[in-house]
Amino acid sequence: MTATTTTGRYSAVAMTLHWIIAFVLVYQLVLGFSLDGIPREERGAYMGVHKSLGITILLLSVLRLAWRLTHKPPPLPDDLKPWERMLSRGVHAGFYVLLIGAPLGGWAMSTASTRAPPVSFWGWFELPGLPVPESDALAKQLAVGHAAAGAIAVILIALHLAGVLKHMFVDGNDVLWRMVPGLKKPPSA
Ligand code: HEM
Repeated sequence: MTATTTTGRYSAVAMTLHWIIAFVLVYQLVLGFSLDGIPREERGAYMGVHKSLGITILLLSVLRLAWRLTHKPPPLPDDLKPWERMLSRGVHAGFYVLLIGAPLGGWAMSTASTRAPPVSFWGWFELPGLPVPESDALAKQLAVGHAAAGAIAVILIALHLAGVLKHMFVDGNDVLWRMVPGLKKPPSA
């Protein structure tokens, strides 16, 4: 594993993947939770975007995990309490599980459904089905799990943002500076 970054900041690759995935995930969640409200005749197009975006998140998240496993991130700020360290590591690990598990679950749900068309990746090509049996009962169960994954994503994002805000405004440490390119290091950090 490559040595820790000398600046105490995340690497440019880690920052870039962090912000791309963050914005795409928020959009994906808003789209996902809006699907039920979209008129049936229009839903197909939105579902296509949802599935392509989901597979894009999967690819970027696998890339990000590979980078994370081969490039040590900067150590957590010294002033974090033991429970904050545990919670922070738990939320980060939770994001990796979700960012890979939710799209795989969606893909498996589409594969199992006898009514869903093959998953198309931005209309460029069709993905093979995942090795799951074709069964609407299974697709229904996976849909419940997928909706739960969406809810967990919202909770993780809320915890993550609450942590950042506390570190910025209560602790006054450099947590945000570590992940935002071009941000000036806070004088108190
Ligand atoms: C990070 C990636 C993803 C996230 C966060 C996500 C999130 C969601 C959410 C929140 C819903 C609404 C659940 C509900 O209220 O019932 C949903 C629905 C759905 N998603 Fe995803 N999704 C992702 C990726 C995918 C992928 C890759 C596919 C398929 C290839 C997919 C297929 C579907 C389908 C078919 C539905 C409708 C389910 C139903 O009719 O009950 N999703 N998704």
